[in-house]
Amino acid sequence: MKSPENPFVLTNHIGKKYFCNRENELKSLLSHVENNRNLMIYGWRGLGKSTLVHRFFDKLENKGQFETLFIDMLPANSLEDVIKLLASAIFEKYGRGKPGISSSMNKLFFVLGASIRFDPYSDMPDLHLGPRQLGREEQSLQALGEFLKERKKQVIIAMDEFQQLDFFEEKNTASVFRNWMLKYPEIRFVFCGNHPGKMLGIFAEKSSPLYQSAQLIPLLPLQLDHYTGFIQDHFKSNGKYIPTEVIEMIFNWSRGQTYIIQLVCNYLFAQCTNVRAEDFMKVSKEIIEQYLPVFATFPKMLTKAQWNLLKAIAKEEPLFNPMSSEFLIKHQLGAASTVSTALKSLQKQELVFEEDGGFFVQEVLLSRWMKNL
Ligand SMILES: Nc1ncnc2c1ncn2[C@@H]1O[C@H](COP(=O)(O)OP(=O)(O)O)[C@@H](O)[C@H]1O
Ligand SMILES: [Mg+2]
Repeated sequence: MKSPENPFVLTNHIGKKYFCNRENELKSLLSHVENNRNLMIYGWRGLGKSTLVHRFFDKLENKGQFETLFIDMLPANSLEDVIKLLASAIFEKYGRGKPGISSSMNKLFFVLGASIRFDPYSDMPDLHLGPRQLGREEQSLQALGEFLKERKKQVIIAMDEFQQLDFFEEKNTASVFRNWMLKYPEIRFVFCGNHPGKMLGIFAEKSSPLYQSAQLIPLLPLQLDHYTGFIQDHFKSNGKYIPTEVIEMIFNWSRGQTYIIQLVCNYLFAQCTNVRAEDFMKVSKEIIEQYLPVFATFPKMLTKAQWNLLKAIAKEEPLFNPMSSEFLIKHQLGAASTVSTALKSLQKQELVFEEDGGFFVQEVLLSRWMKNL
């Protein structure tokens, strides 16, 4: 991988050098898959789930133990979309850039209604996904399963943004997946998703077809001391310096969310040689300003009561007694019953979450901005 100048990388496929720790998580993931367990990794956005899975897959590929396929389900709205994503991932891995196409792959794409065409200039193959094949999803999954089962090495598939399943046209996708997984026990699965509530609904509720089909792994923030060493080393090896106290400030301000810490460090690295607390203040303001167009949409999405409550939670973070008259009066929130309804709705939308009895605005940057409104 080409060395980027800024060591605080913001994409989620990063080489070992720029990846901070997660040693215990990597060990535990390996032990799960080596013991034939499927996994479901969940946690709030930006903690590092996708990045961890990419890193894990790089390690598995290097060890030569598994063949890995990674699909991001965010653009998918149906089972057929997932099948197409899998077909593309298979083509990218086993077909693109290869001189010939194996007969098993030809057979697979025939069943999927896809075709491989050769570019007349480069003579390289390219995949053409056919038109919609409604009603053929189960045959397609079977063909995919047969193809993957026959690979020499064991195949592990990551399905990222799996909470997307909630928006699918078909409501039986979870049960189709369950049957597919049962039929092809050779294939390992890593499901990953951002909305803990939705992900646990899919994998931890007795009534869900995917109940008990994967080990549930919550991803927690990186530890401050791990992150401190990582950040200081990268500053130091580039002739720069950042004091521990500033890293602690960044960590608290970011609530330990990896993406935001990386973003702040990326800015500080670019702008400073000797980082001071004032530099962090300046950069955090700059970052918030970039998000203002996004934040401006929030008041339009919410009722007035919800918006006012959200603002009040950001100011109090963490808020311990949302129904106390002191809180209601201080922020002029009106009747306790109105606030109670608004709070339930904000939690349902996962804009607010509760931890150890305290309430937080889920989006850290939104929260930091609203605090000063
Ligand atoms: N261990 C890590 N070391 C360094 N940067 C990381 C690490 N984990 C995540 N990141 C950074 O944080 C960002 C968010 O991580 P991501 O994996 O996309 O989170 P999630 O999938 O949980 O939403 C990534 O773009 C990456 O730059
Ligand atoms: Mg992700």
